[in-house]
Amino acid sequence: MKKRYQDIYDASIKNPEKFWKEISEDIFWYKKPTKILNKSNPPFYKWFEDGVTNSCYNALDYHIENGKGDKTALIYDSPITNNKAKFSYNELKEKVSKFAGALDNQGVKKGDRVIIYMPMIPEAVVAMLSCGRIGAIHSVVFGGFASNELASRIDDSKAKILITASCGFEPGRTVEYRPLVDGALKLSKHKIEKVIFYQRKGHEVKLNSPIEISWDEALSNSKNMDCVEMKANEFSYILYTSGTTGVPKGIVRDIGGHIVALKWTMKNIYNIDDNDIWWSASDIGWIVGHSYIVYAPLFKGCTTILFEGKPVGTPDAGVFWRIISDYKVKSLFTAPTAFRAIKKEDPDGKFFTKYNLSSFKSLFLAGERADPDTIKWAENLLKVPVIDHWWQTETSWAISSNCTGIDMQKTKYGSACKAVPGYDVKVLKSDKSIAKPNEMGDIVVKLPLPPGTFPTLWNADERYKKTYMSNYEGYYQTYDAGHIDEDGYIWIMSRTDDIINVAGHRLSTGAIEEVLSEHQSVAECAVLGIADKLKGQLPIGLVVLKAGVKKENETISKECIQMVRDKIGPVAAFKVVIVIKRLPKTRSGKILRGTIRKIADKEEYKMPATIDDPAILKEIEEDLKKNNILK
Ligand code: COA
Ligand code: AMP
Repeated sequence: MKKRYQDIYDASIKNPEKFWKEISEDIFWYKKPTKILNKSNPPFYKWFEDGVTNSCYNALDYHIENGKGDKTALIYDSPITNNKAKFSYNELKEKVSKFAGALDNQGVKKGDRVIIYMPMIPEAVVAMLSCGRIGAIHSVVFGGFASNELASRIDDSKAKILITASCGFEPGRTVEYRPLVDGALKLSKHKIEKVIFYQRKGHEVKLNSPIEISWDEALSNSKNMDCVEMKANEFSYILYTSGTTGVPKGIVRDIGGHIVALKWTMKNIYNIDDNDIWWSASDIGWIVGHSYIVYAPLFKGCTTILFEGKPVGTPDAGVFWRIISDYKVKSLFTAPTAFRAIKKEDPDGKFFTKYNLSSFKSLFLAGERADPDTIKWAENLLKVPVIDHWWQTETSWAISSNCTGIDMQKTKYGSACKAVPGYDVKVLKSDKSIAKPNEMGDIVVKLPLPPGTFPTLWNADERYKKTYMSNYEGYYQTYDAGHIDEDGYIWIMSRTDDIINVAGHRLSTGAIEEVLSEHQSVAECAVLGIADKLKGQLPIGLVVLKAGVKKENETISKECIQMVRDKIGPVAAFKVVIVIKRLPKTRSGKILRGTIRKIADKEEYKMPATIDDPAILKEIEEDLKKNNILK
């Protein structure tokens, strides 16, 4: 008989080593681990320390050796370019081993870092897997980030090679990568040795420097490479994510635990079997894309879809239904924003009725809070379970979810369901005591974290310890706040740091403030995330000018907006800057960002006891009204 969720969960918490040892039997190891968990140096835990394996082997070769070489591994569907392609496990392995040879020719060795700054094309997946094949560490940078962000990742990772493309496509505009790459190479102190350009047909760029080489040229004399044996705790990738300061944090992933955990999630969380078709409509630049476009489905040996398009406008709000119907997708994973966008464009689901979705069994949402209205709308339309689950770049897989492959829990709208086996989730109050059911507090996870989560930050052990593991000793601090109810359901209510979630993209308001502060006329500023019906949150900037500034306010606002676009990138969706006279502060000088946000969102707020001058709040309210923020 199938074990139920509670039994499995309890077993994972009571004896994590036994639990994960059994699960680790399901992956390919050159040498099976005998040491399951090294706890000798908390908070630096090591899973499967003496195991030897390879990510790419588990994603490709393993399935081929098990007779599945002809099965489709990857489906590429690009409504934005009208291209489609399918790659079997054999074909994908051929491409990957050949490109691994190209990287080898360029001098990339085990442990070297390779930046991948590419659109959603199969070559991006090939590049990621090729790194794994030869033991290089990839760091994918989302295409919506600008040169500055790319440069900071080059400098921090000290990458040897950068792989990019001639362009990407966004609705209505072509994203030229060359100027962005050139800008980053100028800004970065660390020098990249080679830039490999994938030339998109009809949009080729001229290569004009000795360090540049085209993808095809790099492949021209490459030989197929086999997988190298990697120790379980060596790193497979670095994925930078917003930190509380402008300096992004390099989340690292080790190899063994990553394969073990992600493969397990495909069946247990998502109920996906080898013969199923799975689709994660995210971008490989984000953690959801890493884990659920590329790694987990390929470790599982099922078929994954790479979608280069948007939920609306490519060409219409029916494209998700078209993909599900064309490829007989069993489950889709996306951000609530995508569904809000479809709902806005096609509230009555007219496009939906054109397609046959009989294969479709469940929809998973994550990346930001899923509002009950959107969940209910999707349930009504799709007539399948819609599952909100919660996770972070740091963990690479869900901390809480309805584990549909174990057994279905009932939905509580607004909750991200229960802790996934492996995560001992607690809510702690500011006095560090454990909150009672339904009491709000900081959401933490008792250490050790399960396999596949982040063992440290790239070259920043102290930052790892200080940022995540110090405020509550023995726990990982998620920086999400909320509560757990009497049935064990987890409710994620807000972030406790400066992170905001814009269309499911994680951004730091602190980083945007750093950019605004660089404007010559700006004396001080505050950036806050205000509620937005489509994108969940949107950043707005409030700036106070230096004395004697003559420029028009409108000009300054425009310049500030452009600076954020140039320095962080269009993904910040930063479109509003309001010039104000003064910012509300505490007597000790701390800007009352939380109070301003509440005013902007028309939430009730208490007058902060320590406020310097309460009249400023009225002024701010007026300014927000004048600028149509407060309607
Ligand atoms: N490369 C370059 N630019 C990009 C980009 C990329 N990969 N992705 C987004 N951008 C740009 C957009 O073109 C837009 O630029 P603009 O200011 O010139 O219009 C800007 O970044 C903001 O993008 P976005 O927030 O995505 O807004 P949008 O209006 O283009 O699209 C949605 C709205 C709802 C369609 C879109 O946000 C979406 O698909 N959301 C789903 C989110 C998601 O998948 N998140 C992944 C985490 S699970
Ligand atoms: P990222 O690291 O980009 O995946 O962003 C992680 C953050 O997104 C979390 O810390 C949460 O603040 C938010 N988040 C992710 N999933 C959910 C969810 N299901 N409900 C509420 N917030 C979420």
